[in-house]
Amino acid sequence: MSVELPVPPLAELRRRRSAKWRTYPPDVLPLTVAELDFGLAPPVAEVLREAVETSDTGYSAQDSTLGTALAGFAARRWGWTVDPGTVTAMPDVGVGVVELLRTLARPGDAVVVSPPVYPPFFDWVPEAGARIHEAPLARHPDGGYRLDLPALGRAFATGPAAYVLCNPHNPVGRVHTPDELAALVRLARIHGVPIVSDEIHAPLVLPGAAFTPLLSVPGAAEVAVSVVSASKAFNLAGLKCAAVVTASPGTAELVRRFPPDARWRTGHFGALATVAAYTDGDPWLDRLLATLDARRAQLGKLLAERLPGVRWQPPEATYLAWLDCAALGEGDAARELFLARGRIALEPGTRFGAPGAGYVRLNFGTSAEILDEATARMAAAVAG
Ligand SMILES: Cc1ncc(COP(=O)(O)O)c(C=O)c1O
Repeated sequence: MSVELPVPPLAELRRRRSAKWRTYPPDVLPLTVAELDFGLAPPVAEVLREAVETSDTGYSAQDSTLGTALAGFAARRWGWTVDPGTVTAMPDVGVGVVELLRTLARPGDAVVVSPPVYPPFFDWVPEAGARIHEAPLARHPDGGYRLDLPALGRAFATGPAAYVLCNPHNPVGRVHTPDELAALVRLARIHGVPIVSDEIHAPLVLPGAAFTPLLSVPGAAEVAVSVVSASKAFNLAGLKCAAVVTASPGTAELVRRFPPDARWRTGHFGALATVAAYTDGDPWLDRLLATLDARRAQLGKLLAERLPGVRWQPPEATYLAWLDCAALGEGDAARELFLARGRIALEPGTRFGAPGAGYVRLNFGTSAEILDEATARMAAAVAG
């Protein structure tokens, strides 16, 4: 058996009714929203099948199974000690972040984010009644991105209500290092700025990098709260389950102030699937990471051969490639060209904030054949 995970044939993928497969006409190949094309992990499929067979479709139980499963996963994968009692189920990461910001910010307060970054960050902050303060990522001479610690220091000095960290960072695929996170925590403590750490991509750190949970950084517990989910790695976004994790009495108090109904909105299927993924999903996840590592290498080769004008820094995490297409036009011109001429859909860079102009984001969580077809379509679009 190949170590790579199989992907169903395109005709079968097109029968899916999720956002990735129903946003564009059937002649468009979508490599957009962060859904995976691989089949479900067997332990996840099994628990969902069993739930359907027993008509186990009620509310998600408010017990400790999610916290215990997450604690086991966090200890095995990252050496992070999580107290199951500090884990609160949420319907998704977005709800977790918005509820945290509602408790932290008064109307009109600033919340700092670092573009280019996951587009809903720009929606979640106003949803919580706050306003965006941008401290963009810094460009690094290696072609990648880093947290801009001096810019964050200046932003924190203005007294914002919170910083929303993306750890690892979507769309650039940066896995922040222990030193960078320690420096961030120091700034947060000096200026009294709480950090909300979105760690949804943590299980997707690829060979060559290692994930540091923010709450494992010395001094972080008093100033930081993490929001995690199995949904990106195990393709469970539609099932609605995530978790807020705290590590100090002060931050636990924030969660106690959440609307009492928030945790009841967690999907029962989501919680069942998440517990199965965290408990029995390691072998499948290891195969996924090996597959994504191969896809990342394949994409590098295909870009060099077929799209020499497109530049990129291979991501350290996620199945998302952040491609510099500025040579093909300004703003979202390249994305429009790929869609109109190549019938290939990618995420437009400007959705990730102003520094995304000239970029597209490509989802390589798919088969070698589809990635080959996608880059062929992109090359044909450029050739005209
Ligand atoms: C950084 C980041 N946070 C959150 C989400 C969405 O999470 P949820 O659907 O649980 O709100 C995504 C989805 O791709 C993401 O990339």
